[in-house]
Amino acid sequence: MKKNFLILAVSCLAASVMVMAQDEAAYVALMKQIGPTCSALGKKLQAKEGAAAVADAKKLQDLFQEVHAFWQKRSAADAMNFAKEASAAFQSVEQHASGGHFDEASASFKKALATCSGCHNAHREKAPDGSWKIK
Ligand code: HEC
Repeated sequence: MKKNFLILAVSCLAASVMVMAQDEAAYVALMKQIGPTCSALGKKLQAKEGAAAVADAKKLQDLFQEVHAFWQKRSAADAMNFAKEASAAFQSVEQHASGGHFDEASASFKKALATCSGCHNAHREKAPDGSWKIK
């Protein structure tokens, strides 16, 4: 009986470690989408391509909702805040770009970019092999 319990406890632990690893892989996949979408958005704002910029800004808001959910599970209040600020800034980019106000849209875009480095400084760590780690 005792042994069974031990096996159960060990397999539960293994399962939760696996879920964590899956979560982290999904998170990296999010960031890999955020990076290029964000630079594409910057270029579209410069080229004053309103409709295309709006689509990217919307996509980024959705992606940062998922980023927010990830940190909520880890109860990391500062990271949740960065994700919220990013969403809000991209929403403002969307609104200004849809109205054709590209100066204002670019100003909001800069605010969004500030959240990237804010969170990266706090929650991203470079491993000795040069890859990134979540902390
Ligand atoms: C709430 C925190 C947070 C915010 C906000 C955030 N990031 Fe990240 N980002 C991370 C963490 C943590 C990692 C490290 C994950 C990893 O790569 O293992 C990361 C990694 C990345 C990577 C590397 C992915 C790879 O190839 O491994 C890119 C690119 C990236 N972020 C872009 C951005 C951009 C652009 C923004 C802003 C628009 C942004 N991030 C905002 C937390 C954040």
